[in-house]
Amino acid sequence: MQYKITVLAGDGIGPEITKEARKVLRRVAEQEDFSLAFREEHFGGAAIDAVGEPLPEKTLEACKTGDAVLMGSIGGIVGVSPWYKLPVEKRPEAGLLRLRKELGLFCNLRPAKLYSELRAASPLKEEVLGEGFEIMMIRELTGGLYFGEKSLRMEKGEEVARDELIYRAHEIERIAEIAFSLAKEGRGELVSVDKANVLESSRLWRKIFTKYGEDEQDVKLEHVLVDSMAMQLVRNPGKFSVVATENMFGDILSDEMAEITGSLGMLPSASLGENAFGLYEPSGGSAPDIAGRNIANPIAAILSAAMLLRYSLKEKEAAKKIERAVEKVLAKGYRTKDIFPKRDAEGLKLLSCSEMGDAVCAEL
Ligand code: NAD
Ligand code: IPM
Ligand code: MN
Repeated sequence: MQYKITVLAGDGIGPEITKEARKVLRRVAEQEDFSLAFREEHFGGAAIDAVGEPLPEKTLEACKTGDAVLMGSIGGIVGVSPWYKLPVEKRPEAGLLRLRKELGLFCNLRPAKLYSELRAASPLKEEVLGEGFEIMMIRELTGGLYFGEKSLRMEKGEEVARDELIYRAHEIERIAEIAFSLAKEGRGELVSVDKANVLESSRLWRKIFTKYGEDEQDVKLEHVLVDSMAMQLVRNPGKFSVVATENMFGDILSDEMAEITGSLGMLPSASLGENAFGLYEPSGGSAPDIAGRNIANPIAAILSAAMLLRYSLKEKEAAKKIERAVEKVLAKGYRTKDIFPKRDAEGLKLLSCSEMGDAVCAEL
């Protein structure tokens, strides 16, 4: 079997981390009974520099004709990089949002796991980490504030900016369906995060989740307000297993979730639609502060590649192999800079981005 993977390396650390993810994918494919054909295309700021737009038609076409997309990250320093002098719809982020929409990727899975070896890298206290945590966040990805109408205009002599927060029932229903089914596979607990005390869209969200909950007697559903969720995540992360929320809340909470595992560089993601096709990228960004120095953590990208194997190619054994290899590498004490603890670093070894990729390959 040969699969076609479109690679969008993007900006900042994107090319560095996708290179390692590709390395790992190539190695695992050699060992298993399938092969991978990679096709690289321009995307984000790099595409603006090369051809003048963040999502060229050729890139979109390549994504649509492949089996899955492996993405790095896009964007520069907002307000500093020349890309942000362009009109909003020509900027790197606009390319990413359009790509998600065009490919129908409405469901974003962001799994945050505390590896026992990384407890010292977490900013949380030992007593808060307790027995650890493994949270699957389901973030709605093609609705809400991100895709509502926007405008900036003058009114009575001052600028007025507007972002519409809109959800249609079917956009919530399809997330609820996935969320309940993941909860059933897990501990049978689902937390739905909203702001139903203030927002109409959240009241619709809660109504739909509640209705699904009535039909799914084997899942214990709890509603948590987003501000309280932000607090509870750092107070008692072990309480959560499957968490579902809308686009913007999911964006914010997933960075928080990543950080309490030790680093944003650890959190992979899968963006999925109606069929097996998907786009796989780290949850973090292009990290302009460390780009080009070969010090970024490639694990989020490598684990995203594992998700690609699991969800799009249905190569579950190969996916598990990569996840086990990551665990072994951490157990051996190998760390990139972001997960290297400031104290008690005895027995640990600091690796570069490419060395970490090599170390994972060696454990496969
Ligand atoms: P960021 O996620 O790029 O970086 C936040 C912090 O986390 C930085 O200190 C960075 O060094 C660190 N970090 C992130 N990934 C890391 C890794 N793999 N290894 C080690 N450290 C890592 O967020 P930002 O600085 O706010 O945004 C930078 C740019 O990235 C912006 O243009 C933003 O729009 C874009 N962005 C893109 C994506 C994406 O492509 N999906 C996601 C988030 C942000
Ligand atoms: C993410 C990013 C994107 C988002 C940006 C770059 C548009 O922060 O994937 O988390 O907000 O969805
Ligand atoms: Mn984000």
